[in-house]
Amino acid sequence: MAIQYQPGKTPHSREKRLIFKNVDRVGYDPSIDCYLQDGGYDQLKAALKMEKGVIINEVKASGLRGRGGAGFPTGVKWGFIPPTNTKPVYLICNADESEPGTFKDRYIIHQDPHQLIEGMAISCYAVGAKLAYIYIREEFPEGAKILDKAIAEAHTKGFLGQNILGSGFDCEIYVHRGAGAYICGEETGLIESLEGKRPYPRIKPPYFPAALGLYMCPTIVNNVESLCHVKHILQMGGAEYAKLGTPNNTGTRILCVSGDVQKPGYYEVEVGKVTMAEVIDDLCGGLKPGRKLKAIIPGGSSAKVLRADERFKLKDGRELGILDIPMDFDTMAACGSMAGSGGVIIMDDSRSMSWVINNLNNFYAHESCGQCTPCREGSLWMKKISDRIVAGKASPDDVDTLESVANQIEGKTICAFGEACSWPTQSFIKKFRDELKSDCKPELAGQAVAEESLVASAGLR
Ligand SMILES: Cc1cc2nc3c(=O)[nH]c(=O)nc-3n(C[C@H](O)[C@H](O)[C@H](O)COP(=O)(O)O)c2cc1C
Ligand code: SF4
Repeated sequence: MAIQYQPGKTPHSREKRLIFKNVDRVGYDPSIDCYLQDGGYDQLKAALKMEKGVIINEVKASGLRGRGGAGFPTGVKWGFIPPTNTKPVYLICNADESEPGTFKDRYIIHQDPHQLIEGMAISCYAVGAKLAYIYIREEFPEGAKILDKAIAEAHTKGFLGQNILGSGFDCEIYVHRGAGAYICGEETGLIESLEGKRPYPRIKPPYFPAALGLYMCPTIVNNVESLCHVKHILQMGGAEYAKLGTPNNTGTRILCVSGDVQKPGYYEVEVGKVTMAEVIDDLCGGLKPGRKLKAIIPGGSSAKVLRADERFKLKDGRELGILDIPMDFDTMAACGSMAGSGGVIIMDDSRSMSWVINNLNNFYAHESCGQCTPCREGSLWMKKISDRIVAGKASPDDVDTLESVANQIEGKTICAFGEACSWPTQSFIKKFRDELKSDCKPELAGQAVAEESLVASAGLR
């Protein structure tokens, strides 16, 4: 997968660059020498003189919430390692970056790998892990090479290996390349894959990784961006970091904006300090000429779609239009969707919603691991029915059947892929039912079913 650099691209004035400080910076390269010029590894040096519990408390005080999708507080997760644990503890950096619409971790890896390695080394020290893995998807071969080189450099300078900087702390980081599957981004599927098995997610409870993770030992799984924040939290202090962003939605985060805007791309902003209107009009230069906003998927393809003309009445009394929504975890959830992995997909009035949901359903049907029946069968049926709709060979009843298939998946599966694949369908039908039905052609519906039966009887899916 080619990574496009934009050297010299000036960050937008609304951005607050912490994690992406060095991304696209002229004269900056991924070497350790470059990183060291700007105080690189100073936070690791400081951390190694601190009590582990103090570091965990700083991360808790920062309010950092995971940037991989669920937005779970990082410090709280770290605190879940059983206090009586006697087994080895592992740290895993989730660099699968598989959620459609998300493209941030790869830029950190390509352009500032030592920021990640420093964040990981500090995190390992804090949670008591001597061994860490970076699980990177197959499609990032260059990223894997860059990381291997950076790890070797960190070793040479004594920031990894045995007795780091004379502290008595040992730490090794290994890069593990996945084979390229969405489900390997789900933390327990990832762990199974790392153990050399088929990535069937594990059921939670009991298999919460912080208690029963890699090799059934306590394991902290964090996203690339989350682990980079740890370095900045130590640099600023947790309380100072928490002043960035908004209450309960602290710090900065990288928004990945794609779709029908003039300037799609990545933008690092304080969480909740910019609204959807500011994302579209200021950061991204507005919609395409002559076009109107139709819908937005605000947090990666699994997030529920929001319609341009919706009004959101929140429990705190606020009433917001789509453009008023601040880009934070809590408001996005209160509006019925999620901030997820930061992938914001903008759709204008040129987009067919039948096409969009079919595109998503094709993805999910391909990526289901097949372990649970509702997901394996349901995702395939959602693809087949939406194939019919876009082909103009569905009956309007098919839209209701599609909705009922999605409803049979949600909440009935081993992992959250069940929700990830049913939420798009449920929300698109709820919000664009008439459009989907108007794409149906009842007179051709029999033909589609006959064709599908032929395919099925020939043993093809
Ligand atoms: C189907 C599915 C795919 C996921 N893909 C990713 C991914 O590519 N990268 C990621 O960091 N988290 C992904 N997650 C979330 C992880 O399971 C896990 O919550 C996350 O890595 C924890 O890191 P964080 O707390 O730093 O966000 C995915 C979850 C699901 C259900
Ligand atoms: S929900 Fe889907 S992806 Fe997750 S375990 Fe079940 S079949 Fe696999």
